Amino acid sequence: MAEPFFSLLIYVCVGVFMANINDEISRRRTFAIISHPDAGKTTLTEKFLLYGGAINLAGSVKGKATARHAVSDWMEIEKERGISVTSSVLQFEYDGYCINILDTPGHQDFSEDTYRTLMAADSAVMVIDASKGVEAQTRKLFKVCGMRGIPIFTFINKLDREANDTFELLDEIEKELGIATCPVNWPIGCGKNFKGVYDRQKQCVVTYSDTQKGTKEGETSVIPITDADKVLEAIGDERKSVLDDEIELLDGASAEFDLDKVRQGKLTPVFFGSALTNFGVEIFLKYFLEMSSTPLSRKAGDCIIEPTEHDFSAFVFKIQANMNKAHRDRVAFMRICSGKFDAAKEVKHVQGGKVMRLSQPQQIMADSRKILDEAYAGDIIGVFDPGIFSIGDTVCSPKDNIVYDGIPTFAPEHFARVRQIDTMKRKQFVKGITQIAQEGAIQIFQEYNTGLEEIIVGVVGVLQFDVLKYRLENEYNVEIKLENLPYEHIRWIVSEGTDLDKISGTSDMKKIKDLKDNPLLLFVNSWSVGMTLERNPGLELSEFGSAQ
Ligand code: G4P
Repeated sequence: MAEPFFSLLIYVCVGVFMANINDEISRRRTFAIISHPDAGKTTLTEKFLLYGGAINLAGSVKGKATARHAVSDWMEIEKERGISVTSSVLQFEYDGYCINILDTPGHQDFSEDTYRTLMAADSAVMVIDASKGVEAQTRKLFKVCGMRGIPIFTFINKLDREANDTFELLDEIEKELGIATCPVNWPIGCGKNFKGVYDRQKQCVVTYSDTQKGTKEGETSVIPITDADKVLEAIGDERKSVLDDEIELLDGASAEFDLDKVRQGKLTPVFFGSALTNFGVEIFLKYFLEMSSTPLSRKAGDCIIEPTEHDFSAFVFKIQANMNKAHRDRVAFMRICSGKFDAAKEVKHVQGGKVMRLSQPQQIMADSRKILDEAYAGDIIGVFDPGIFSIGDTVCSPKDNIVYDGIPTFAPEHFARVRQIDTMKRKQFVKGITQIAQEGAIQIFQEYNTGLEEIIVGVVGVLQFDVLKYRLENEYNVEIKLENLPYEHIRWIVSEGTDLDKISGTSDMKKIKDLKDNPLLLFVNSWSVGMTLERNPGLELSEFGSAQ
């Protein structure tokens, strides 16, 4: 009699335990905000935190003009607000959701890490300045999101200022980025005449009063479009007639909302607002949470790992050396892909073939570290790395053997030839530069068939050159000289059986090899890329290198 009872009890307990884990996972939303510098990423993030109750006082982040480009954007919020935010992920609660926003450093911090971070996100919010449209950095980050096919939500910002024509903005997104758009709301005027937005799904006008600047209470006046008198009173004759025309045009011309297409990254829901004056932000956040998906499944070779159907597993997407001078350490950032992380339990580092306890699992704060006991699929953890982890590595429950698909190598855009000043220090130089490349901070290449031993360094953001110089001097005691090269475009050769010797390119083209002996081509401009493709039928080039 007792046996079936205990079996049932165990069954019920396991059931409750799994339900808890699954509930925790399904309330998680992990996304990155992509934008060109100054489009309003920091301001929007700050307003999200305001709604999440992580900060109390909104208002623009002041005094940024002088200090802004020096550090990560989030550190600015931290300094201004006196709150602790992680330097890699911000976590906050809103309306029952547990939200993880990943930092995609812009400005000078822009590096390959910015791209890699997108590998850890389940969706992206693309912030566009309404007076500037699609800009260079947005285009680059979008490309990486597009490669992964993750959902992208668009927030067109700064409607409180003069903006480009709304239809033209949508057209630009579609043409430049190749994604269909579907406005979920529509702005009523802009600049001084910005009255609010029309919510197309709820068919009501949400008006805006700038006395609500920076407060949480904004966006209270919601009028159904059918209540013509009230709408007229709120937005005036002229605006009402323009809005009526625009709604008609939109209903006839814009793509229909289709959540499946959104989830496949083929359609971007578009929202309008003003992060600074805090208008349209909460509407956006609510729709975004409703439309975005729970943590996504991930590919591990031939297997698809579902977040709720497997025990703990995670992959390393970023390694940061010497994050904090006082600690002088290396931290590996991992995205949890399935199950629950329990700090008391051992995990397996698959590539290293070792079972271990993750050392000091934590959420990394700028000036302090919060040790974690548990975390769930969708979350990001930072662990102390004694030099064993590489980007793309998997850790999982000791009984499993999951190997997540690696992270591709992204095209650097700045190149330099690098030499050590003291020729006697060749060994340290090669060791240092190779290690720094293995961490993923830079990419190194070799000359092809020139007989030269020199190394070519490629970086995504120019600041990485300074980091390389500094680290070689300080950690390896090697002084170097960098000679900038004019190349801006790199392509991996993906067509099988292509003979590098036989490729005939433009005069500015350079043939090189990476550390794994893969052949690559360097070009000064994109025109040369096109010409080379034309001259060599069958040649296929890619902006992404094979997984690391
Ligand atoms: P970023 O992280 O994408 O680089 O942008 P950030 O939020 O730092 O915003 C860049 C500037 O744009 C900031 O100005 C910010 O106040 C302003 N801004 C952000 N959202 C809005 C908006 O909705 N409307 C308006 N009018 N401005 C917005 P700043 O650095 O404080 O001053 P300044 O650069 O104007 O001198």
